[in-house]
Amino acid sequence: MNRTHHNGELRIEHINTDIQLIGWVAKKRNLGSLVFVDLRDRYGITQIVFNESFEERLKEVKNEYILQVTGKVIERSSKNPNIPTGDIEIEAVDFVIVNKAKLTPMIIADETDALEETRMQYRYLDLRRPVMQNNLITRHKITRSIREYLDNLDFVDVETPYLNRSTPEGARDFLVPSRVHKGSFYALPQSPQLFKQLLMVSGLERYYQIARCFRDEDLRADRQIEFTQVDVEMSFMDTNQVLEIGEGLVAKVMKDVKGIDIELPLRRLTWHEAMETYGIDKPDTRFGLKLVNLNETVKDVDFTVFKSALEAGGHVKGINVVGEAQNFSRKKIDQLTELAKTYKAKGLAWLKVTSEGVQGPIAKFFNEEQLQFLLTKMDAKDNDLLLFVSDAKYEVVCDALAAIRNYLGKELKLYDPHTFDFLWVVDFPMFEYDEETQRYYAKHHPFTRPKDSDLDKLESDRENCLADAYDIVLNGFELGGGSQRIYEQDLQERAFKALSFTQEQIDAQFGWFVEAFQYGTPPHAGFALGLDRLAMLLCGCDSLRDVIAFPKNTSATCPMSKAPTEVVKAQLDELGIGVIDHE
Ligand code: AMO
Ligand code: AMP
Repeated sequence: MNRTHHNGELRIEHINTDIQLIGWVAKKRNLGSLVFVDLRDRYGITQIVFNESFEERLKEVKNEYILQVTGKVIERSSKNPNIPTGDIEIEAVDFVIVNKAKLTPMIIADETDALEETRMQYRYLDLRRPVMQNNLITRHKITRSIREYLDNLDFVDVETPYLNRSTPEGARDFLVPSRVHKGSFYALPQSPQLFKQLLMVSGLERYYQIARCFRDEDLRADRQIEFTQVDVEMSFMDTNQVLEIGEGLVAKVMKDVKGIDIELPLRRLTWHEAMETYGIDKPDTRFGLKLVNLNETVKDVDFTVFKSALEAGGHVKGINVVGEAQNFSRKKIDQLTELAKTYKAKGLAWLKVTSEGVQGPIAKFFNEEQLQFLLTKMDAKDNDLLLFVSDAKYEVVCDALAAIRNYLGKELKLYDPHTFDFLWVVDFPMFEYDEETQRYYAKHHPFTRPKDSDLDKLESDRENCLADAYDIVLNGFELGGGSQRIYEQDLQERAFKALSFTQEQIDAQFGWFVEAFQYGTPPHAGFALGLDRLAMLLCGCDSLRDVIAFPKNTSATCPMSKAPTEVVKAQLDELGIGVIDHE
């Protein structure tokens, strides 16, 4: 099928050239006896002008028909500065209908009013929209840049299995029944974690993979059940070296894909600093609105809510919403309170600094000295709005204020949405205590190494034991994470014990893996970046669905193929599986 140019190519210097184009009819309109057709392909749009001799034949042509057009480039009398080919048009000499199209269920243009469900059902048409094609192309540029970077640094791309045994890694596993071994199951990988570590035992030194991962968890805008990681592991490198490789990677991607120079080394915050200042371990650092710890400041204030929280070993924190006192009505503050409550806070206390003094329902609990102390601590001035959360639980105070902070950052437009602010969060806690099951879990995964200074705390102080683990954060999203790994067998056993695994559980679940560590395991470390999240943020999208060609919707289904589906009984029989009535 011949074409001399694509539809984004022709310019004023092509005038008088004889050309042939192929594309989809994006628009057809009649102007007197002339018919104008916008012909679209991946590269752009070119306007074709057909004279009256084509009028009859063109009647049949509708949107999304594929035409092959022969013609000559001419200068447009009314130019369109909005498209690169806007200076010219094609005077048609002949055309062929390459293929016809049914009336499409959605408009094929950047601006579409189609519902998400329709877009997902007709995904191939949704992906015909230039904006979606650009997202896929940007994603491609990101992976190309990543491969180039890692290849230059001697990293070897190795594929690891999709079918392996189920190992507890955090999320729920997707299971695949074995036909050969009825009643046994493979699990799809939540990440290539164990295999990449084994490749270090193998002496590969530098591994990477753009790996599909599977996690059976509830979907959100930034979470899919299958997603892609840029998975990296390396031997004999300390944490500074690993972070340097990681930030060099994102810096190259930003330069190659967005033309943006980011300043290296990236800022680092400890997990503790991040929680204290932003209430969250993936802070959006494009704006201030920092949390202020008020435990000392309000300890003598006679407000029962604060007092009881502090007496229970809890916390009081506040944020100063600078210059917004007058803009926040009772109703608006009530909305913020509701938001705080969705994060388990019992309420949201507030004060307004006005020229007539400090106002608000809790003002009466402060004496003059305490008020001054508070205003100084929060750097509060006239017309500032002060918000407070207290709770016996640190996480509740942090979660609620972090949510309010993120909400206000966006609502009050405190940052330019086109900026990118990367940082590392380091020194995560090793463990996370779960009230429900009353035991400690690995905050990262069980192969994460404690910080050298905290090795003793594995037994003596799990609460305060820090890991040599790090996350890379961009604009309030966790872009990736990793750690130094445990490479000594005895330390791995201590870590398993600290996680309350019994010897039988260790042998049964990790025996095959731990065994390998006896044969000369190098010190090693690594990280994984969420490729979908990186693509989403670089494309300026709000959902991973906009940068994945064929994603799942929020109820974990594919509206196009209707997956998941029931299967015929014969298939189940062959697998030795019976489905119980799940109604
Ligand atoms: P982790 O579980 O933090 O680490 O995952 C790494 C990164 O993968 C992305 N990600 C997701 N993206 C979309 N949908 C999901 N459901 C999803 N889950 C995770 C995030 C996240 O930061 N093996 C370790 C890495 C290591 O230690 O080397 C791991 O998987 O961007
Ligand atoms: P109450 O004493 O319940 O009437 O609450 C007085 C004010 O304190 C209200 O504005 C509540 O929203 C707020 N408040 C209640 N519980 C908390 C809390 N845990 N942290 C901060 N403010 C709270």
